[in-house]
Amino acid sequence: MRQSLFIILACVCYRYLSPPVACIWYSDSVVSDLCTKMSCCKGPGYASPLDAFRNGPREQFLYVICVQPDQSKQDYLATVDVDPKSPTYCQVIHRTYTGKTGDELHHSGWNVCSSCHDNAELKRNLLILPGLASGNIYAVDVGTDPRKPKIHKVIDGADFKSLNCTFPHTTHCLATGEIMISTMGDKDEEGQGDFVLIDSKTLKVKGTWTKGPKLAKFGYDYWYQPYHDVMISSEWGTPKYLKTGYHPDDVTNPDRYGTSLNVYKWSTHELQQVIDMGKEGTAPLEIRFLHDPKADQGFVGCAIGATVYRFFKSENGTWKTDKVINVPAKKVVSKDGVVSELNGLMSDIILSLDDKYLYFSTWLHGEVWQYDISDPKNPKLTGHVLLGGQVLNDHYKLLEEDPPKPVIVKGKRLYGAPQMLQLSLDGKRLYASSSFFSPWDKQFYPKMIEQGGWIIKLDVDTENGGMKLDPDFLVHFGNEPDGPVLPHEMRYPGGDCTSDIWLAKD
Ligand SMILES: *[C@@H]1O[C@H](CO)[C@@H](O)[C@H](O)[C@H]1NC(C)=O
Ligand SMILES: *[C@@H]1O[C@H](CO)[C@@H](O)[C@H](O)[C@H]1NC(C)=O
Repeated sequence: MRQSLFIILACVCYRYLSPPVACIWYSDSVVSDLCTKMSCCKGPGYASPLDAFRNGPREQFLYVICVQPDQSKQDYLATVDVDPKSPTYCQVIHRTYTGKTGDELHHSGWNVCSSCHDNAELKRNLLILPGLASGNIYAVDVGTDPRKPKIHKVIDGADFKSLNCTFPHTTHCLATGEIMISTMGDKDEEGQGDFVLIDSKTLKVKGTWTKGPKLAKFGYDYWYQPYHDVMISSEWGTPKYLKTGYHPDDVTNPDRYGTSLNVYKWSTHELQQVIDMGKEGTAPLEIRFLHDPKADQGFVGCAIGATVYRFFKSENGTWKTDKVINVPAKKVVSKDGVVSELNGLMSDIILSLDDKYLYFSTWLHGEVWQYDISDPKNPKLTGHVLLGGQVLNDHYKLLEEDPPKPVIVKGKRLYGAPQMLQLSLDGKRLYASSSFFSPWDKQFYPKMIEQGGWIIKLDVDTENGGMKLDPDFLVHFGNEPDGPVLPHEMRYPGGDCTSDIWLAKD
């Protein structure tokens, strides 16, 4: 009895504290061996998506990327308290500044995660923050004091540029213990999709990932699925044009915007297939395989046409796409009486960890949508909330619908629109932040620039579908120390619905 209590204590300390300091009862290898047998202390993350869904803890705080509208100020990572029992609920409780300017922080990822769950030696303790505009990569120590992260190391943008890569976007952790970051531009910020590998222990840049003669024309997001020996990446457009704002004429220019998915053989790193989705598939952004590590399908949200495509493996092993959702444009009339069609601009999509629901935001329409994807070929609309958008920001009036009412949360009117999404592990709380990309924020939502962005929370009915705005939740970024800022991606300390990729066990 006494013996087994000791083993459990040793396991707990091995998992949560640093082994040499804490595990005084047994040597490292003894504990590690016992732990593997008892599976009481595994490596980072969760054993499976359903393990995270059923047994993951409720999120206590969020790490939120905050972008300065004024490029002469430092972007930062905000720690936001989302524990309803805490006296600082809904407040920014810490700011970790990059120490540099002009970064345009955007997305983030981990040094290691659930793809390394079987390796008890590894710890998820560094959040990786690439700066889109600067190419700098910040490794932030969130292990020492999770509430007060600290910059641990900076990889200079010049390191990526020397590999002919700029505009680093998505960070994923690999089962090899490497960090892989997708890039959108070549050294001159012309469109080019590639990936850079970083050693997660030394944080040294190891080189580019793609092998073989072909590089993708454009880059953006990606997701890998080793069970099917595949990685699929998406395409936004040419960074040097995107960063000057949204220009409607660029959208149909095949040298400026992408319309394709790039399918790679995961084991050889070769680009094998390019699936062109055409005009309706312009600017495929966030791409998500189903979380099930054996799934041979997933979804991608295409921004400009506000369309979701399902991608899947066909009988002969090639990959195909099929349009499954489209949000129609709205007929609007501008202040000077000009009638036009306003596209939704689908900016983020996310899947619940049980692969039951797909959520997306339409940033120009200002809406968040929920679809039941139990039958992935036929997503069913189950929920829909209006929170902002171009009409509510007084840029247009609707031509064929009644005018919507401005959304006010805790006495504050929401300017801007919902954009990045993050869902709780159990699927019950959906957070939405309002910033897309600062040059585009300035163009579409000048009032959000002036007043600051925000995060709201939707409560989800996971049984029957449906979402409701929580009237008591608002994180507002209007009164930040250096003026209003723009909140973008949100992550939970122990992993969330978009940070981890699981590997099949057999
Ligand atoms: C960088 O990439 C571009 C686009 O793929 C290519 O045309 C150019 O030759 C590359 N430059 C170097 C120095 O590798
Ligand atoms: C696979 O099937 C599709 C039609 O479904 C065809 O277009 C493609 O050429 C086939 N590929 C191979 C490698 O046989």
